[in-house]
Amino acid sequence: MKVLFIGDIVGSVGRTAVKENLPYLKSKYNPHIIIANGENAASGRGITQAIARQFFDWGIHGITMGNHTWDNRDIFEFIEDEPRLIRPANFPDNTTPGNGHAVIKANGKELAIVNLQGRTFLPPLDCPFRKADELVDELKKKHKCILVDFHAEATSEKIAMGWYLDGRASMVVGTHTHVQSNDERILPEGTAVITDVGMVGPRDGILGMKRDAVLQKFLTGLPVRFNVDEGKWHFHAVVVEMEESTGRAVKIEKIRLMEDEWRME
Ligand SMILES: [Fe+2]
Repeated sequence: MKVLFIGDIVGSVGRTAVKENLPYLKSKYNPHIIIANGENAASGRGITQAIARQFFDWGIHGITMGNHTWDNRDIFEFIEDEPRLIRPANFPDNTTPGNGHAVIKANGKELAIVNLQGRTFLPPLDCPFRKADELVDELKKKHKCILVDFHAEATSEKIAMGWYLDGRASMVVGTHTHVQSNDERILPEGTAVITDVGMVGPRDGILGMKRDAVLQKFLTGLPVRFNVDEGKWHFHAVVVEMEESTGRAVKIEKIRLMEDEWRME
């Protein structure tokens, strides 16, 4: 089974990039299941029901989230009724709307998804490692192929999660930093990992935000409102191939595309 995982989609430029590139990526890689991180899809902050519907219409089968999950209030209107929208599982049990895991079925294949959020340089949540134990071990009883989106800031925390789940999850992909890391590999027990998949959105801003405001913040230390940049996009994703009988990953490949410039063929 082949899984295409698209990194953090940022604002309208990011959404345009997904719409423009999906047909090309579908024909090039023939993925059975497509998952994307959508926590920055609505102007960099959260997601709306209309945007989630668009993603599903374009062929994305599941959407993972992160620390911006609750930034757009629209999510409270539909998260309970949309099992394909997956928020970090390590928010407090019982009081948090929605689900931190899901099983996606498409094109005759099944993939279990777990979304977790890191705790280093991010707000405190329940332990993502212990939550991973609980969910991955339970899902593994029925599902061989498991994708974990670990939405975290620190590279060390993400690398640690990859090793922690080696042989238990088929792929552990990092999101949140918006910069694609050059460390994709398959660990010895068969888990495909990458510290960060990278973003999809404006390429000449700073992590997708307008440069001027970010620079002003660095230069003055004063509070500044960040807004999503416009202009040309860059697009980052990974494709992972896994054996359905064992859940072992056999291949991981990075994808990096630049508007009007080049494609990584
Ligand atoms: Fe994030």
